[in-house]
Amino acid sequence: MDAPWKIRPARPEDEPGLRTLWRRVFADDDAFLDAFFRRLFRPALTLTAWGGPKLCGALYLLDCAELVTAEETRVPCRMTYAFCTASDMRGRGLGRALVRRSVELGWEVCGAVNVLHPATPELFRFYANAIGARPVFYIREQTWERRPYSGGTRVYPADPASYRELRERLLRGRAHLALNEDALTFAAETGSALLQLETAHGPGCAFADREAETLQVRELLLPAFLPEAAYADAASAILHTLDGGRLTARMPGAAADVPFGVLSVPEGELVPDCGSDAWFGPAFD
Ligand SMILES: CC(C)(COP(=O)(O)OP(=O)(O)OC[C@H]1O[C@@H](n2cnc3c(N)ncnc32)[C@H](O)[C@@H]1OP(=O)(O)O)[C@@H](O)C(=O)NCCC(=O)NCCS
Repeated sequence: MDAPWKIRPARPEDEPGLRTLWRRVFADDDAFLDAFFRRLFRPALTLTAWGGPKLCGALYLLDCAELVTAEETRVPCRMTYAFCTASDMRGRGLGRALVRRSVELGWEVCGAVNVLHPATPELFRFYANAIGARPVFYIREQTWERRPYSGGTRVYPADPASYRELRERLLRGRAHLALNEDALTFAAETGSALLQLETAHGPGCAFADREAETLQVRELLLPAFLPEAAYADAASAILHTLDGGRLTARMPGAAADVPFGVLSVPEGELVPDCGSDAWFGPAFD
């Protein structure tokens, strides 16, 4: 029996329908959607699913990063984002069909591997079953409360270009997603703070979102081999500068830590060697 949907790449005129579905599923506001569609939307890299005239699913492949291995090999990559099916179509295999097609699409267009951050821990199994996606990116996560600050770390705003450069310096020698300027500009336009840190041990960087009283630091990168106290000091300085009450930060981890991102290639293709401590970075979540 034929599937009750048809999947095809998006066309520019699909944008209003895509926005409606996105708003329904993810509840983001118009300012966020405007920035996304202006900055990152590529119709040819977006899959739409149609049940007759009705849009019932979508998946966006972002051209936002390259995968850089620990040996500095640069691998084309596409990040799956805002993948969803309409609530009345769930549980019928449409999600699986969309992600399978997306892995082929990225590969066909530019030999790109697919990476993504599953929105919930349960979804790791969905992606493993649907596209053989395996965790290769890990994080450590820690929370600090605000305390009076008298340390030496200074915090400055960074523009997307200098943040990108600093980030690449700090991640040298570790497999990671090298975010491009478009992605970082999108983040800045949608309210994320890109920060440059001057610590006693050298420069660091942080990417922070405010959620009520908590600062969600999507990445906190410091020079290698620093003790925990250096992270606590950086967290304290960020809390003080951005006037937050509590800060939760994601930091590079290893396979013993929390799985964060998965990678997938079409069946039979080789998975690039990412080592055991690859860094995903901000997932725009
Ligand atoms: C995740 C989502 C796209 C799946 O779409 P779908 O059309 O229901 O997917 P399928 O019908 O192909 O589901 C296949 C399997 O995944 C499982 N599954 C679906 N959503 C899941 C979830 N949120 N958590 C865990 N398992 C899930 C289903 O139970 C099904 O399992 P089975 O094959 O063993 O029965 C859909 O639930 C959705 O739009 N969710 C809200 C947005 C979201 O979370 N997107 C993912 C961002 S990473």
